[in-house]
Amino acid sequence: MSKYLIAPSILSADFSRLGEEIGAVVAAGADLIHFDVMDNHYVPNLTIGPLVMKSLRQAGIDVPIDVHLMATPVDSLLEEFLGLKPEFLTIHPESTQHLHRSLALIREGGAKAGVALNPETPPETLRYVMELVDLVLVMSVNPGFGGQQFIEESITKVRDTRAMIDASGRHIRLEVDGGIKADNIARVAEAGADTFVAGSAVFGAKDYGAVIEAMRRELSALEG
Ligand code: DX5
Ligand code: ZN
Repeated sequence: MSKYLIAPSILSADFSRLGEEIGAVVAAGADLIHFDVMDNHYVPNLTIGPLVMKSLRQAGIDVPIDVHLMATPVDSLLEEFLGLKPEFLTIHPESTQHLHRSLALIREGGAKAGVALNPETPPETLRYVMELVDLVLVMSVNPGFGGQQFIEESITKVRDTRAMIDASGRHIRLEVDGGIKADNIARVAEAGADTFVAGSAVFGAKDYGAVIEAMRRELSALEG
C-alpha cells in the first residue's frame, strides 16, 4: 500500500445509484471506499449494513472497503462483515464490551483491525491492544453525520497517536475521519496521518477527480 491513502466516504454519495457512485469515485482515483455503518443507537443516525455491502460485492465491486462500524453490539456484526472481505474493519472501544476480543475476531476473520477514537477518547486506550491493531482512526468530528466541521484539537490527537504508533515500532495506519478537505489535508498529514476519509468534500463536488487530485497535490508537496 502506498504512503497516503484517500478513502471517500459513501455516506455522502447518492444512495439511489450507489454502485455507479463507487465506480465513479474509484475511476477518480480513490484508494479505498469508506463504508459508514450507523445504528441509531451508538450514534444518532441510521445508514447501511452488511446487506448493502453484500449487494455491492454481488454486483462485482471488488475494491478495498474500509468498514467503519458505529453500531452495538459489534461481535455478531463482525462475523457478517468478515464474510464480505473488507480490507479494514474498524470499531469504537465504547461499542464493544471487550475490545481485545473483538479485535482478535477481526484478525482471525482475515481483515485488518481498526480502532476508532472519538474526539474525547485518548490514544492511551490503545496501549494494551496495540499488538492487535492495524489501523487507528482518529475521529475529527463527533461520529454520526457527514458534512460537519473539522475539530481543530484533532491535530494534537493525531500527533500524539503518531508518537505512540512510532514508539510501538509496529506498522499501523493512522486514519483521520471528519471534515477533511483539500485545504486542511496537508496539516493533518504533517501531524502524522496517512489515510484520509473524505465524504462531503468528494461527493459534494461535481468533479470527484478534481478534488482527489487537489488532495494528492497537497500531499505530494509534503513528500517533497
Ligand atoms: C461520520 C463518518 C464519516 C463521514 C465523514 O460519523 O464517520 O466517515 O462520512 O464525512 P465528511 O468528510 O463530510 O466530514
Ligand atoms: Zn467514518
